[in-house]
Amino acid sequence: MNFHILTLFPEMVMQPLMTSITGRAVKQNKIGIEAVNIRDYTKDKHKRVDDYPYGGGAGMLMQAQPVYDACESVISRLPEGKRRVIYVSPQGVPFTQQMAQELAENDDLLLICGHYEGIDERVLEEVVTDVISIGDYVLTGGELAAMVIVDAVARLVPHVLNNGQSAQTESFHGNLLEYPQYSRPEIWHGQAVPAVLLSGNKREIDIWQKNAAIQRTKERRPDLYRRYSELEECRKILMEKKLHHTDMTELVNRGRAVLVFRNEREILFRDRESGIYFHTDLNPGNKGSAVDWEAFSEQNPHAALRLHQEYMADMLQEKYAYSRKLCCKQMVYTRREKLPVSGLYSLNGKTDGRFFVRPLDFGEACLLEICRLEDEFPGMEKQIKKGSVYGCFLEGNLAGVMGICSDGSIGMLFVSERYRRKKAATALETCLVNRMLEQGMVPFIQIMEKDGTVFALQEKLGLCLAKERVFWLERK
Ligand code: ADE
Repeated sequence: MNFHILTLFPEMVMQPLMTSITGRAVKQNKIGIEAVNIRDYTKDKHKRVDDYPYGGGAGMLMQAQPVYDACESVISRLPEGKRRVIYVSPQGVPFTQQMAQELAENDDLLLICGHYEGIDERVLEEVVTDVISIGDYVLTGGELAAMVIVDAVARLVPHVLNNGQSAQTESFHGNLLEYPQYSRPEIWHGQAVPAVLLSGNKREIDIWQKNAAIQRTKERRPDLYRRYSELEECRKILMEKKLHHTDMTELVNRGRAVLVFRNEREILFRDRESGIYFHTDLNPGNKGSAVDWEAFSEQNPHAALRLHQEYMADMLQEKYAYSRKLCCKQMVYTRREKLPVSGLYSLNGKTDGRFFVRPLDFGEACLLEICRLEDEFPGMEKQIKKGSVYGCFLEGNLAGVMGICSDGSIGMLFVSERYRRKKAATALETCLVNRMLEQGMVPFIQIMEKDGTVFALQEKLGLCLAKERVFWLERK
């Protein structure tokens, strides 16, 4: 991912961003950061970039021409790809972790920094896709704001942080602030580290950390705590039909659920990562929905839905022109213990005739095969970029792939013809289940009813089948 910061003060942004983690990521080619001097693009012979505002008022305004030309010069040399042009301003939408996640999915981000009293509105209207504020206060220029955004987005780019887990377990994950942490010495200024953290009991430590996070959120961020409590209530109700609702409880568990609608019978979530909506009716005997699907369809004309009752799928198809795409069975790995690995695969490249399983990197040669798969599993490219798709190699060749789909389920299984019946799928799914357990997730898979071999594999690995089916709907 590349960041292009358009500014009158390039040295103000480059020096700090080339230090520490973002600097290291640039040197390792994980990200690119450049500052573009807007002044280099002015057509004024005195190199001026500002002028008085029409209608009067204090201060000067940055003129449209140099900002536009600087922006166009960057865009003209970018390859095809997803990009956004951000203007940082106190008049923008407040910046959040969720926005950082969305921005991290782009190939290029252009950030325009204003100075003086701002920028001529006409150029902003023409080039800017997002106006973002980093808080309700006014800075002397946009540079600090742009640096905040670059830093928050860059750390979400795969491999920028060394430890794959830390981007997931920090503040704001699941609407909770992070729990307090302690390092050596055990006693400092007469204060001891909480004894449970020294106990070595992983389960007790997890419980302590969760409770401490809840307590801290309650005290410091009552707004976040309210959202957390609402989702917890939903989670408890959904757990009454645990296997059927694992996809929804996992959205809560993984900090991805946004509560869109809830009454005594129905729950509608939006997955903040994929944008997919998940609906269930907890008392389906009563058929009928209190969700305003008319307004929903208007606001989300291309929404993808995961429904947990067939009558809802029928109703939406009939009344709102959704197509019934798939009818799936959900299977869940309900245990906490990892699956046995021995003899199946290795994670370190020493294969001894076994498979070598590792996350796929976007851009590697074997992905030619996967490009073909993109037709079969739309969205796979995005999942590869997130590090969620694993490849299984034998003698250096890609034998198969499997990954975590955009909706959080395990899927996208593909094994090359010549490597079939060699346990490639078992190796891949075992590896994924174990990785997910390490990250505190409950692994689950949604399979089409006709898929006999995949079904048999799930049974072999000990996944439990939910009685009720799940329905995937889409509207083109
Ligand atoms: N420029 C000046 N103040 C700002 C703020 N609070 N957020 C974003 N850009 C700014």
